Amino acid sequence: MAGHFVLNTGAKIPAVGLGTWQADPAVVGDAVYAAVKAGHRHIDCAQAYNNEKEVGLGLKKALDEGIVKREDLFITSKLWNTNHAPEDVPVALDGTLKALQTDYVDLYLVHWPVTMKKGAGYGPQSIIPSDIPATWAAMEKLYDAGKARAIGVSNFSSKKLADLLAVARVPPAVNQVECHPVWQQGKLRAFCQSKGIHLSAYSPLGSPGTTIVKVRAGAVLEHPVVVSAAEKLGKTPAQVALRWGVQMGHSVLPKSTNEERIRENIDVYDWSIPDDLFARLSEIEQERLIPASFFVHPEGVFKSVEELWDGEI
Ligand code: A2P
Repeated sequence: MAGHFVLNTGAKIPAVGLGTWQADPAVVGDAVYAAVKAGHRHIDCAQAYNNEKEVGLGLKKALDEGIVKREDLFITSKLWNTNHAPEDVPVALDGTLKALQTDYVDLYLVHWPVTMKKGAGYGPQSIIPSDIPATWAAMEKLYDAGKARAIGVSNFSSKKLADLLAVARVPPAVNQVECHPVWQQGKLRAFCQSKGIHLSAYSPLGSPGTTIVKVRAGAVLEHPVVVSAAEKLGKTPAQVALRWGVQMGHSVLPKSTNEERIRENIDVYDWSIPDDLFARLSEIEQERLIPASFFVHPEGVFKSVEELWDGEI
């Protein structure tokens, strides 16, 4: 299969992107540079990851050395929850562009359907009611201006996407969500497909090294069905998890700052998971590993994880 998918803008999104969530700023620049050298063309960033400046340094080195041209890269960033006010949206993107040392991003996402007070830190007390239509109208202006070549969302349920589609002039190109063999997003995936919205998969390995939230490490990479498929195919469990996503039609965004694993994670194109093993992966018992309960509070805007995800939990 080709190494990309086509967005509803007509642009190509590379099927594998380098994730940078929880990538240490001290090493992420080298990781980005190594990734580009290894053939990665898609880098997934966010203001909230607090490392965009260092990502930008890695990109600059690769560009300066002529390893890649800007037009051959696909760079994504995300609008943080504290910047949802329409007047703050272009300022936030300008900050990201400056940090990444580029004039445009290929994709700009509303990071969460959760709005936080300007300048506030984490915690349910920071969350205020959202006006996503107003935020989206500001995103559309960035698209019109060409500073964001495509716009989309992240962490939106089918219901929140439908609400957005009802008011959007420019429909979202992408919904980036948790997705891997242990949380396959069946309902959301079907909805996205029916609306021409590309699903991009974060934590495609199940985020085994995560420290920010409590995740059952090994849920994906040590799952017996994943491990047994890997053994049969002579691949690693990570490669099976990534290839599963790509075969489902998702772009996958594995985070790694390790050169060897960065190379391993892009080696998913010249082989495939045969139907029988694919069927076994489809039958894995489902569990959302990152329910984002840090946005939930009994007296808050989202009173339960069911409310945050509109029952897709
Ligand atoms: P590291 O950066 O040391 O490679 P996810 O993308 O699902 O959030 O998972 C990221 C985590 O998985 C990180 O802890 C990363 O560690 C680790 N990781 C990345 N690639 C692989 C791989 N090919 N095999 C095993 N672990 C990996």
